[in-house]
Amino acid sequence: MSTLLLLPGDGIGPEVCAQVRRVAERLTPDLVIEEGPFGGASFDAHGAPLTEETKARALAADAVLMGAVGGPKWADAPRDKRPEAGLLGLRAAMQVFANLRPALCFDPLADASTLKREVVAGLDIMIVRELTGGIYFGEPRFIETLADGQKRAVDTQVYTTSEIERVGRVAFEMARGRRNHVTSCEKANVMDSGLLWREVVTALHRRDYADVRLEHMLADNAAMQLVRNPKQFDVILTDNLFGDILSDEASQLTGSIGLLPSAALGAPGRPGLYEPIHGSAPDIAGQGIANPVAAILSFEMALRWSLGRAELADALFAAVRRALDAGARTRDLGGALTTVQMGDAVLAQL
Ligand code: IPM
Ligand code: MG
Repeated sequence: MSTLLLLPGDGIGPEVCAQVRRVAERLTPDLVIEEGPFGGASFDAHGAPLTEETKARALAADAVLMGAVGGPKWADAPRDKRPEAGLLGLRAAMQVFANLRPALCFDPLADASTLKREVVAGLDIMIVRELTGGIYFGEPRFIETLADGQKRAVDTQVYTTSEIERVGRVAFEMARGRRNHVTSCEKANVMDSGLLWREVVTALHRRDYADVRLEHMLADNAAMQLVRNPKQFDVILTDNLFGDILSDEASQLTGSIGLLPSAALGAPGRPGLYEPIHGSAPDIAGQGIANPVAAILSFEMALRWSLGRAELADALFAAVRRALDAGARTRDLGGALTTVQMGDAVLAQL
């Protein structure tokens, strides 16, 4: 018996997670579903965005699925108490260093993208984002006040050989099961960490993955190429910060950020962390109109990568595709379905 820990969190998180629960109860009745406090909601109730108990339960689960964290309510909380700090703390505690962010354009939604249909139709990209290192975690980091009264802020971008290598491996392995092409993105032209990134990826490729086509691309160029000709990409391998930015950008190619799931994986056998890539969307929270598909597809990824139920993942993916084919649309996709009705539409196809 496997355990899924749901962390609904803030904003639209609880609304979309409720639809995940319905789908999970239907598809995997034997799955034990637990729920825990997380993010701003946890800060309000327990004084911390990630409690020791939630952390321990996450490490003991087979998979963790998070809704969303953050919102204007906690904007002035001290940095270590902010909802986002809870998420970073959870990623670090679970050691989920490889973040898989697929950007897939469902055919009936090709017209929902702000880009032309021919640019995005058939798009299928996998972004592999390093998730537990880089500037998100690098030390030192601080804001200080200088003698002349102005302030000075420092963040540190830092990567080691092994951090680059382990996420690189995930990208190359992923590519072998796809179109065998990895584009590695950094800023080797201005950053030492970019130089090392390129050096380590090149060496790893030569040593173990020479059968995969490897291309290096500067991250700014990649941002441009993603909207110019996104179908040139198969797997994009990149660091924590560039991956954050490029994955938001890629989401718009697919029609809506409300569609995109993600999986964060660590060493084999350890629990994965699954999150829709959209945020807490405070502007629409509580209205019951958020698109639950990204969260439902995050559960699909959990079935595939942590719960050993690839056949059920396939069935769920097909059900989502059929629901979209049949015209099910929440407001972000130009439709009028509520969150619950979108859940109904997926359930009806299961
Ligand atoms: C994401 C989010 C997070 C990140 C935030 C909420 C900390 O934007 O998962 O992409 O920056 O990693
Ligand atoms: Mg982001």
